[in-house]
Amino acid sequence: MITTHSPRVAVVTGAGAGIGRACALRFGREGYGVLAVDRAADDLAASADQLRAAGVDCLTVVADVSEAPACDAFAAAALERWGRIDVLVANAGVQTGGSLADADADWNRILEVNVKGVARSCAAVLPAMRARGGGAIVMVSSINAVIGVRGMAIYDASKAGVLGMMRSLAVEHGDRGIRVNAVCPGATVTDFHERRAAARGITPAQLRDRTRGYGLLGRAAEPAEQAAVIYFLASDEAAFITGQAIVADGGYSLTAGSN
Ligand SMILES: NC(=O)c1ccc[n+]([C@@H]2O[C@H](COP(=O)([O-])OP(=O)(O)OC[C@H]3O[C@@H](n4cnc5c(N)ncnc54)[C@H](O)[C@@H]3O)[C@@H](O)[C@H]2O)c1
Repeated sequence: MITTHSPRVAVVTGAGAGIGRACALRFGREGYGVLAVDRAADDLAASADQLRAAGVDCLTVVADVSEAPACDAFAAAALERWGRIDVLVANAGVQTGGSLADADADWNRILEVNVKGVARSCAAVLPAMRARGGGAIVMVSSINAVIGVRGMAIYDASKAGVLGMMRSLAVEHGDRGIRVNAVCPGATVTDFHERRAAARGITPAQLRDRTRGYGLLGRAAEPAEQAAVIYFLASDEAAFITGQAIVADGGYSLTAGSN
C-alpha cells in the first residue's frame, strides 16, 4: 500500500550477506525503506531479522539478478509497497578465481551475475527513477577492476565491465537527475570469506589477523566501511557526483606494484 508519507526507498541486491547486508542496515538506519534482494532465501531471512530488530521498514524478495523477470519483479514489489525507488545498490556478485583455462567453466555465470545482473537490476529500476525525475545508482565493482590480480582475469574483466556500464548509464540518465556511480572495494572481510575460512577451521578472528599488513592501513575493511562509501555516493551529500568510481581499498592499489 502506498502511504502519503512514503520514506525514501533503497533497493539492495545481494543483501543476504556481506557488503549488501551492511548496506541494507545502513540505509535502513538512515530512515530508508529497504527492499532487500538475494537469491539465498535463508541468508536473506537472516538479514530481514537483523533489519527488523533495528526497526527498519523492509521487504525481502528472493531473486536471482541474472534473470530479468526476477529483477522486474523486485522493482514492482518496491513500487507496490512504497510507490517509489530512490536508490539502487547493485551489489550482488560472485567471486571466482582461477586462470583463464580453469575459470572457463564459470565464465558465463560470472558475466551473467556480475555484468548482466547489474544491467538487469538497473533496467528494472530506471523507469521508476526516470518517471520521478531522480535517483541514485551505486554499483559495487572491485579494486580488481583497476589493477591486475594474478589468477582473477575473468572476475576482473567482469568488474571492469561494471565501470564501463556505470559511465554509460551516468551519461544516458543524467538529464533526468539520475546519478550513477561505483565503489571499488579492496579486501573486505565478509560472510563469503568467513564461510570459506570456517571450512578450513579458521575462526573470524584468525581470518582478520591474517589480513594484517593489507594496504597502507594494514588491515582489510569491514562491510560497514564499504556501506558508508556507498551510502555517501547515494546521498544528497554527493549530489554533484556522477559517473565516478571511488576506490575504497585502504591504499592497497598504491602498494600493489611493490609485491
Ligand atoms: N569482499 C570483498 O573483499 C570484495 C572486494 C571487492 C568487491 N567485492 C564485491 O562486493 C559485492 C558483495 O560481495 P561480498 O564480499 O559482500 O560477498 P558475499 O558472498 O558475502 O555476499 C554476496 C551476496 O550476493 C548474493 N548473490 C550472489 N549472486 C546473486 C545473484 N545472482 N542474485 C542475487 N543475489 C546474489 C549472495 O547470495 C550473497 O548473499 C560483490 O559484487 C563482490 O564482487 C567484494
